[in-house]
Amino acid sequence: MSNRVIMAAGNWKMNKTPREAVEFVNDLKDRVANSNSEVVVGVPFVCIPGVVEAAKGSNIKVAAQNCHWEPSGAYTGEVSCSMLKELGVDYVIIGHSERREYFAETDEMVNKKARAILDNGMIPIICCGESLTQREQGVTKEHVRYQIKIALLGITAEEASKIVIAYEPIWAIGTGKTATTEQAEEVCGIIRELVEELYSKDVAEKIRILYGGSVKPENAKELFAMPNIDGGLVGGASLKSDSFEKIANHDA
Ligand code: PGA
Repeated sequence: MSNRVIMAAGNWKMNKTPREAVEFVNDLKDRVANSNSEVVVGVPFVCIPGVVEAAKGSNIKVAAQNCHWEPSGAYTGEVSCSMLKELGVDYVIIGHSERREYFAETDEMVNKKARAILDNGMIPIICCGESLTQREQGVTKEHVRYQIKIALLGITAEEASKIVIAYEPIWAIGTGKTATTEQAEEVCGIIRELVEELYSKDVAEKIRILYGGSVKPENAKELFAMPNIDGGLVGGASLKSDSFEKIANHDA
């Protein structure tokens, strides 16, 4: 057994208004008060102030779903890491496949964002994962290794041991189609091997690797019990407190 703490991270995507977000967190905090998992909610930017306030004194941590890598400047519509840090954000999700697909986020941008997040005292949750075509063509390993290798350029061993990677096969996101436990474990294992290759065994033992893609109460326990899976990045099932509670308390 590793010493890594299981993380249950919700990715709300573009869901919930600021008021709904606060109501949700107020309800969730008692439900997860005794959870052994680290509970994180990834909320829209405008929900952050209210959610940070509502989560005070609880064991819920707050993630943003994106950031810009520059500290400030002429980037209309963007949000910098110092802005997020000042609001009390702990984690920032970067490189999600939806951002890559709809907003042209590249591995190089993910790398710059990771740098900026760490420089501002927050932790990146770096997403990676293959498309259905890539899986069918047998290039999952190459693709994921490429994504993570570029994302981690210039990141030190000390920094790498704190970050979180989320393996999310694109074909499993929002489709109800979960990767089998073996498929998820295999790729999370490949990522851990890569981290060992890039840094050391020690960093590979410390870094947390989540699985994402149709995680639900019915499959969380089995997935999170795998040796290389340290929790989940949860979309749809994180929007209802009942299901997210069950995922966070999967071992209760
Ligand atoms: P899903 O989304 O759980 O709804 O499949 C996961 C994600 O996109 O992070």
